[in-house]
Order: sequence, then C-alpha cells, then structure tokens
Amino acid sequence: MLEVQGKRRYNGGIYLVLRESNMTRRRLVVGNWKMNGDHASSQKLLAEIVAGLPADTKTDVGVCPPAVYIAGLAATAAGRVHLGAQNVADQDAGAFTGEISAPMLKDIGCSLALVGHSERRAIYGETDALVAARYAKAIGHGVTPILCVGETLEERESDRTFKVIDDQIDAVMATSGVGSLRQAVIAYEPVWAIGTGRTASAEQAQEVHAYIRSKIAALDADVASTLQILYGGSVKADNAAALFSQPDVDGGLIGGASLDAASFLAICLAP
Ligand code: 13P
Repeated sequence: MLEVQGKRRYNGGIYLVLRESNMTRRRLVVGNWKMNGDHASSQKLLAEIVAGLPADTKTDVGVCPPAVYIAGLAATAAGRVHLGAQNVADQDAGAFTGEISAPMLKDIGCSLALVGHSERRAIYGETDALVAARYAKAIGHGVTPILCVGETLEERESDRTFKVIDDQIDAVMATSGVGSLRQAVIAYEPVWAIGTGRTASAEQAQEVHAYIRSKIAALDADVASTLQILYGGSVKADNAAALFSQPDVDGGLIGGASLDAASFLAICLAP
C-alpha cells in the first residue's frame, strides 16, 4: 500500500511523495561485470559467490557476466544466482550482426537483461527509443529487463535530473505500458557516480527513487508499490547498508565491487 506522505515541487508542477505502509518488496542485488574477466575467473568468481550466500538469505542475487560466458555459468549458478545479460537485441532474429536476442538469452537460462546502461547510451549512442525497443523484446520473451536510467553531472547541475529520468522512462512506457513494470526492474544509476568512487548520498538516491516511484504511481499505484528500484554507482561494502535502508531503494546494481566475491557478498548481505 502506498500512502501520500507529502508533496514536492518540480519544474512548475507538483509530485506526491509516497511512503510504503506495507513493505513487500524483496531486496535484489545484481553484479554487472561489464567487459572483465575470462572463462576461468568468471567460474571462480561465481562459485565463490554461490558458496558464500547463506541458504536463508532474504536477498535475491544476480550477475551479468560478459555474454560469451553466460551459458557456461548456468551449472555454477546452481539456481541460486540469477544470470543476466548486459544488453538484449531489439529484434528476435535475422541479419543483426553482433546482437543477442531475448529468445537466445532465454534459451541459455538467462533470466535478466540490463537495458539502457549509461555506457551503452553514452559510448554506443543508444537512444531512449532504441532502449525502449530492447526493453519491449525482453518483456515479450519473459526475460526481466533491468531498465537503467540516470543523469550526467552536467544534467544534475543544471537541474535536469527529473526531466532526463522522465524522458528515459516515458519512452519505455509509451511502447510497453506501465503494466510491463510488473515484470521489470528499474535501476537508478547517476552517471557521475559510476566508476568514479563518488556515490550519491543515501538522501540523493532516495530523492530520485521516490520520484521514480511517484511517477509510476501516477500511472498505476499497484505497480509502483511492488516495483523494485535499484541504486547503482560506486556501491561498496561500506556504503551499501545506508543506501539500502532508504525506503525506496530496493537493492543495488554493482559494477567494480561485484568483481570481488568478498566485496560483492558483503553488499548482498548488508543489513
Ligand atoms: P560501479 O559500481 O563500478 O560504479 O558501476 C556501477 C554500474 O555501472 C553498474 O551497472
């Protein structure tokens, strides 16, 4: 159940600040390995993560290895860690050199796929429209998309954070509809916090997470109340607990610290 806790002004308008009165969302922590490691190190890292996860953990855990290693990691994941891809094609099959489709991911036991990571947007020119098309394919084939959104430092400093997030989410809502979020996850990753060691404060993260939830609640309060919203950007063992304790932060998307089993496990097991 979402309750209205207050109102905030933004861009000439007003949005509602909502509070969850009945927390039902599970925590989710996903490691994004990016383009790192090799066959042997991937196996070792995942085996250590699986071995270190207590059987009764209340946190769902996933990793997104480089695509070539995913299939070979299914046995090591042992059903205890979800496997995810770092991207997914906007097409099902055909002459799309270099792309990997949602049916292919499904075929090898991959249940998650990042879409719209800021490195894809900034380095490879992925637009909001392309990200929305990729998201739609993941949804259509039962692969859970983790839709990454977030602003650059320049956008934050010019007070455009919410506008950027609006555009990134609106493109997806226009193609797939708010109901698709029942099968999806959103990750807020401020670009200025990725790989920089400069984490958003827990309050900065909460402010944007609350904004995202209220935005979705305006479309469908029920969907908003169950939507998992992850924070990503220099999450480490020593700041995870503060970030995850925020009411609208439901877990994390972890880059650098997910490449070390002990650090990643400490984040997964943060109180
Ligand atoms: P870092 O944790 O290395 O900042 O990366 C975050 C990220 O991009 C996860 O997708």
